[in-house]
This record gives sequence, structure tokens and C-alpha cells, in this order.
Amino acid sequence: MTIPDNPEFAARRAAARTRLAAIDDKGAGDPHRRSWFQAVYELAEGDPASVPWADLAPHPLLAQWLAEISPPREGARALDIGCGLGDNAEAIAARGFRVTAFDLSEKAIGWTRSRFPASRVDYVTADLFKLPADWFGRFDLVQ
Ligand SMILES: C[S@@+](CC[C@H](N)C(=O)[O-])C[C@H]1O[C@@H](n2cnc3c(N)ncnc32)[C@H](O)[C@@H]1O
Repeated sequence: MTIPDNPEFAARRAAARTRLAAIDDKGAGDPHRRSWFQAVYELAEGDPASVPWADLAPHPLLAQWLAEISPPREGARALDIGCGLGDNAEAIAARGFRVTAFDLSEKAIGWTRSRFPASRVDYVTADLFKLPADWFGRFDLVQ
């Protein structure tokens, strides 16, 4: 049984979904819904059950793909967009990429750093729509 399948975890997640739906303006204020994404992590108070997409494991299709590809060349760089709590970024790093992973939410980035204190991933707070200019053309893999 994975953590999100645990009944108590699932009950907390269902309650969080209700709370989060109540504060979701569906992009009326900002089509990119930045404040809602940030609120998700603020309101979670460290409980991953309260982050609706946090499965605490890499996405199965990503994990499958990483298992199937040839090892990346030495120094190959990957960028993980909207990394959330970091499980995808960690899986990509474990496959041999040098990973930069970013999220809009500073809270998410702090939380992720504390989940993976020995990580080789460079976790950064950044906005997809205002990316640092020196990131352009710098990555071999973007996901
Ligand atoms: C659906 S979640 C997916 C999180 C993670 N990739 C996963 O699979 O668990 C989308 C993530 O993108 C982040 N996000 C939303 N808008 C963003 C933006 N403009 N720039 C960077 N990250 C953003 C959210 O904070 C959230 O963590």
C-alpha cells in the first residue's frame, strides 16, 4: 500500500481537497493561479496529504522512462518544472542527471529541501513565466 492509499491519509487528503476547492477562484484573479498554488503549501502545514498531487513517489511513467533510457552523458542537465515536493527531481538525479528543480512556492522548496537534506538537486524558487535568462538552452532534459 502506498502512502496515499492509506485510509487516514486519504481522509486527510479528501478534507484538504474540500478546503482548497473553497478558496479556488479558478483563475479569475490570475490565470496562472499563483496565489492558489502558494496557499496549498501554506495551508498544508507540513502534511503531504494536504497537497493534492503529492504522491511522495516519482510519477510511474517517469520512473518507467528513466529505467528504460540509456545512462545520460556525463554532466547532462535536467530541469524539473513545478517540482512540488521533489520526488520526480530526485528520481531524475538518481538516474545520473544534474538536476535543477524549481517551484513557484517558496514553502514547497523549503519543505522539499528538508525532505531530502543530502540531495544533489539544486532546488530553487522560481516562476515558470519569469525564468532566469541564463537557464535558456542550458538543459538536456526539461520535464
Ligand atoms: C500539479 S503540481 C505538480 C507537482 C509535482 N511536479 C508533482 O508531480 O508532484 C504543479 C506544481 O507547479 C507549481 N507551479 C504552479 N505554477 C507555477 C509557476 N508559474 N512557476 C513555477 N511553479 C509553478 C505548483 O506550486 C505545484 O507545485
